[in-house]
Amino acid sequence: MSTSSYSNSGPHGPVLPPPHPSVALGFNQSSFTFEELSAATGGFTQRNLLGQGGFGYVHKGLLPNGKEIAVKSLKSTGGQGDREFQAEVDTISRVHHRHLVSLVGYCISDTKKLLVYEFVPNKTLEYHLHGKGRPVMDWGTRLKIAIGSAKGLAYLHEDCHPRIIHRDIKAANILIENNFEAKVSDFGLAKFSQDTNTHVSTRVMGTFGYMAPEYASSGKLTDKSDVFSYGIMLLELITGRRPIDNTAEYEDQSLVDWARPVCVKAIESGNFEELVDPRLEGNYNIQELAHMVACASASVRHSAKRRPRMSQVVRVLEGDVSLEVLNHEGVKPGQSTMYSGANSGEYGATAYLADMKQFRKLALESGTANSDLYGNTSEYGLNLSASTSDQSSTEYTKRTEISKDHE
Ligand SMILES: Nc1ncnc2c1ncn2[C@@H]1O[C@H](COP(=O)(O)OP(=O)(O)OP(=O)(O)O)[C@@H](O)[C@H]1O
Ligand SMILES: [Mg+2]
Repeated sequence: MSTSSYSNSGPHGPVLPPPHPSVALGFNQSSFTFEELSAATGGFTQRNLLGQGGFGYVHKGLLPNGKEIAVKSLKSTGGQGDREFQAEVDTISRVHHRHLVSLVGYCISDTKKLLVYEFVPNKTLEYHLHGKGRPVMDWGTRLKIAIGSAKGLAYLHEDCHPRIIHRDIKAANILIENNFEAKVSDFGLAKFSQDTNTHVSTRVMGTFGYMAPEYASSGKLTDKSDVFSYGIMLLELITGRRPIDNTAEYEDQSLVDWARPVCVKAIESGNFEELVDPRLEGNYNIQELAHMVACASASVRHSAKRRPRMSQVVRVLEGDVSLEVLNHEGVKPGQSTMYSGANSGEYGATAYLADMKQFRKLALESGTANSDLYGNTSEYGLNLSASTSDQSSTEYTKRTEISKDHE
């Protein structure tokens, strides 16, 4: 342990780096009063409501210094105390990158906790890719968003100290600038949700199309679970389809189940017609597409350790390196450990399929399952996350525990 003068939190406490000079000198306010945020958002008026997610409402606001902000009012913080909350927030607010949405500050009032983010003006990837009446997103924009979000994630995973797992990568958490640059939002935030006891919580139900198999089976999250969710997002960009699509054509099949073999075929044959979004009408660069398909395919491998790191994905998408980079342990792109089997010692494909099938069934049968469950954007542009009955969540958790006992 270092003898740094900052290790003043006790022999077993975390060694916190010093605050950024601008914070220490008071140039940048990071702690807000509820009154200040209320004033900034016009009293949290409906007119300033940007949307609602699993954590609560998000309002647009304007600070006296002219800075536009997005204020997220947290419904709960997973039972965290003020100190813990502040420690998490301090860590997150130290992270700044071109492709990450900065946390500007926070507010802890008697009853409420709020987070203050920089405002990103042009909605979400979910809105532009799947929103009703949106113009078709061209190939160049799709690639730009894929690369931008990969860079943001790579920074979190590989360059931050401590490293940060996003935990909730999905198209609704990719915010878009006016020039269509991507900014990853809400990293580290899932810690504040009430997932601690039942890992399949209401909020997670809303994002389960992105959920890595090892998370479904054990609740364990690593940077490689983020890579999986990112892979699902790439599949969305490639195919134009939602992670869970309940239309008759693909009924009862998740995007990833459908896409895995189709990706392998496409990579082998060089023919991407079956895979690629028909709305592109053939307007794409075939080499860039091939690279994106290879990245998607490698990122959604069942075996977490065989998924690439985000920095490798960035380099492949930018065309800087050969696809070989994606071949961990000699696995060809696309040839995932799809049928790695039960004796591989890992959570195998069969168990995964069974879990997902059951999970989907519970979600659809829960009675409150609606279009929002699939991350739809409502007509009003508000993204209301799922509100699934707790009963089904608990049931699912119990069932997974039972199935694990038999593994
Ligand atoms: N920093 C921001 N700038 C501009 N708009 C934002 C910002 N953060 C969130 N929003 C808007 O608020 C909406 C709701 O965001 P929120 O993060 O609460 O929900 P979500 O992303 O759908 O789900 P989750 O709670 O899992 O993150 C987003 O869809 C987006 O339109
Ligand atoms: Mg979000």
